[in-house]
Amino acid sequence: MIDAVLSASPGAALRGSVRVPGDKSISHRALILGAMAMGRTTVEGLLEGEDVLATARAMEAFGAAVTREGVGKWTIEGRGAFVEPTDIIDCGNAGTGVRLIMGAMAGYPITATFTGDASLRKRPMGRVLEPLGKMGATWLSREGGRLPLTLKGGELGHLDYTLPMASAQVKSAVLLAGLHAKGGVTVTEPEPTRDHTERMLTAFGAALTVTDHNDRRVITLGAGGQLTGSPVTVPGDPSSAAFPIVAALITPGSEVTVEGVMLNALRTGLFDTLREMGADLTITNRRDASGEELGDITARHSTLKGVVVPPGRAPSMIDEYPILAVAAAFATGDTVMRGVGEMRVKESDRIALMARGLEACGVDVEEEPEGFIVHGTGQPPRGGALVETAGDHRIAMSHLILGLAAREAVRVDEPGMIATSFPGFADMMRGLGAHIGEA
Ligand code: S3P
Repeated sequence: MIDAVLSASPGAALRGSVRVPGDKSISHRALILGAMAMGRTTVEGLLEGEDVLATARAMEAFGAAVTREGVGKWTIEGRGAFVEPTDIIDCGNAGTGVRLIMGAMAGYPITATFTGDASLRKRPMGRVLEPLGKMGATWLSREGGRLPLTLKGGELGHLDYTLPMASAQVKSAVLLAGLHAKGGVTVTEPEPTRDHTERMLTAFGAALTVTDHNDRRVITLGAGGQLTGSPVTVPGDPSSAAFPIVAALITPGSEVTVEGVMLNALRTGLFDTLREMGADLTITNRRDASGEELGDITARHSTLKGVVVPPGRAPSMIDEYPILAVAAAFATGDTVMRGVGEMRVKESDRIALMARGLEACGVDVEEEPEGFIVHGTGQPPRGGALVETAGDHRIAMSHLILGLAAREAVRVDEPGMIATSFPGFADMMRGLGAHIGEA
């Protein structure tokens, strides 16, 4: 893709109130569960980013009628089962999309071929194929379980599965397949990960129980439950809210409120960490929508200090380490981020890309196999680089935020990829006063 370069320049305080797009995790799940369910699912606030639109197209290919009624307002008419698609399913850049859809389709006696963009074709799918295979699904894939791959589902048996890594995507794939497995499934999580699938399955009528055994979460799902189409209201994505919030914290004179942000404790590790660093964050107007808590978060420019992020917090902020590393670059002292090896298998190798990008901007970073340390000086970093993003939306947004408060402008390549998760990012930041434009 030939893409203009986007540039963020320092100089302006950020002020105002904004909303961020709907949560990406919940948006994928609303479409997938809506397509598996019998009857009508109505969605308010769906994220209309490229990743989720790819999932919407996939659900049509599996037989659901998916209609956009207005901005963020969608309906899905599910048939209560998937039908065999007549073409290849292209999930674009979306790891969540492809992994959850593979789990969902594995429960039906159909065959489908999946692919994705260059980044998704490099990402590991074996982590999902392995449990699905134990349940009885079969597949043919490239070396190492990479896309493109063809998966054949149906006649699945019971599985009692302990997740080998903290991954809500793997957990969700097993649960969605388990809906149609003889005897259901049990999934044990050594570390709790985002629980949107469990919450939404319950809201759609599945027989699901969650128990805690010595810090392990055990999720049991009974088989044969037919999901019923239901209304879903998608709250603001905390992973997107992270960008204007950190921008306000590092830019002198700023005060920014992000309204309607989801506050599920399994997603808000970044806000806890920022507070420990000295961030002035206040949450008001706490309320409930579709079984998730949300609130308005106000961030004011703050003097930050480095912290050691507890590795056990990683699952609740795994997508937020790139923007945390930016905050750390403005803090005084070291910010130690360990136990985050999963970052290397995201849309890019995010440990390597952040280390390279921050170093290009004059920040002292130490890379480790499963983590990294940012040595902050308490002064704004130099900036002044063209940062390579490898087509990763969060790497691009993180470095643009850095450019708003660095000494010199920061440019990023492939900014078009930001639309995978945060369409309107640059416009929203400009509305707060940020200098972001094509360079
Ligand atoms: C997601 C889970 C996380 C996260 C991703 C969304 C989900 O991935 O990084 O952006 O919606 O379940 P893993 O399950 O691979 O950790």
